Amino acid sequence: MLTSTPQKVTVVGATGLIGRQLLTLLSGRGLDVTAASRASGVDLLTGDGLDDALAGADVVIDVINSTTPDDSAEAFFEHTSAHLSAAAARTGVGHYVVLSIVGADRMAAQSGYIRGKLAQEAAAENSGVPWTVLRATQFHELAAPITESLITDDVVRAPVALIQTVDSAEVTTILARIAVGPPLNAIHHVGGPQKMSFADMARTVLRHQGRTLDVIDDPSATYSGLSIDFTTLVTDDDAELGTTRLEDWLTGR
Ligand SMILES: NC(=O)c1ccc[n+]([C@@H]2O[C@H](COP(=O)([O-])OP(=O)(O)OC[C@H]3O[C@@H](n4cnc5c(N)ncnc54)[C@H](OP(=O)(O)O)[C@@H]3O)[C@@H](O)[C@H]2O)c1
Repeated sequence: MLTSTPQKVTVVGATGLIGRQLLTLLSGRGLDVTAASRASGVDLLTGDGLDDALAGADVVIDVINSTTPDDSAEAFFEHTSAHLSAAAARTGVGHYVVLSIVGADRMAAQSGYIRGKLAQEAAAENSGVPWTVLRATQFHELAAPITESLITDDVVRAPVALIQTVDSAEVTTILARIAVGPPLNAIHHVGGPQKMSFADMARTVLRHQGRTLDVIDDPSATYSGLSIDFTTLVTDDDAELGTTRLEDWLTGR
C-alpha cells in the first residue's frame, strides 16, 4: 500500500510509443524509473527478470503491447498479465497501473486482442495490489494508418461511426499523473477533444497529405475487421479530454 509520494516507478513496455514518453516524463520529475521490456532482459511471457525489475518499486505501469496476430493476442495478454500481477503482489508494489482502450468492453466479443486487453485490466483488478486502469481512445498516430486501411480502389469507405483520436503525449501525461497519485481502484477514461465521423477523420488526414480521394460513408465498412456501433469508440460524459485537435497535431501546431 502506498503511504507516501512514490519515489520508484517501473515502466513495463518501456521501449514502446507510450513507454518511451513515460520514461522521459517521470525521470524529468526526479523519480527513480526502471525501464523494463525484453530489450532490458525482462520478458513478461516467461517472467524472466521481472522480480528484479519490480524490486523496491512503489508503482508499476503496464504499457506493453502484443506483437502477435489478433487470434494469439488474447493468450499473450493473459500470460504476460498473469506473470506481472503475481510479481507485483509478491514484491509489494503499491500501485498497479494499466493502459487500456476505451470501448474494450463493447468490442470484446469480436476480437482476441480486445479480450486480451480485458484480461490485462482484470489482472490488475484481481491482483490484490491497489490499482488504476486508464482507458484511452485511439492515438492521433493511428489516424493516418486507419485512413489508409479504409481505401479501396482510390475510395475511402468509412464506417458510419464516431472516432475521437487523442494525442499520445497527453495520454502519457495523464498516465504519469495517475501513477504518482493515489490508486483509484477504478477505470478512468481519456479521449481526444473532438468526436468526429470516420469520414471527417479521413478527410482531415487526406487534406494534410495533399491527397484528393472520394470519401464515402459505407454502412458495411469495419474498423480493423470490427463491426462497431456509432459510439463504440468514443468516451462517455465522465471522461477526461485532451486538448490537442487532430488537425493541429498533424500540422505540428
Ligand atoms: N494505439 C492506440 O491508439 C492505443 C489506444 C489506447 C490504448 N493503447 C494501449 O497502449 C499500450 C501501449 O501501446 P504502445 O503503442 O506504446 O505499444 P508499442 O509501441 O507497441 O510498445 C510495446 C512495448 O511492449 C514491449 N513488449 C512486447 N512484448 C513484451 C514481452 N514479452 N515482455 C516485455 N515487454 C514486451 C515492447 O518492448 P520489447 O520489444 O523491448 O520487449 C515495447 O516496449 C498498448 O497496450 C495498447 O493496447 C493503444
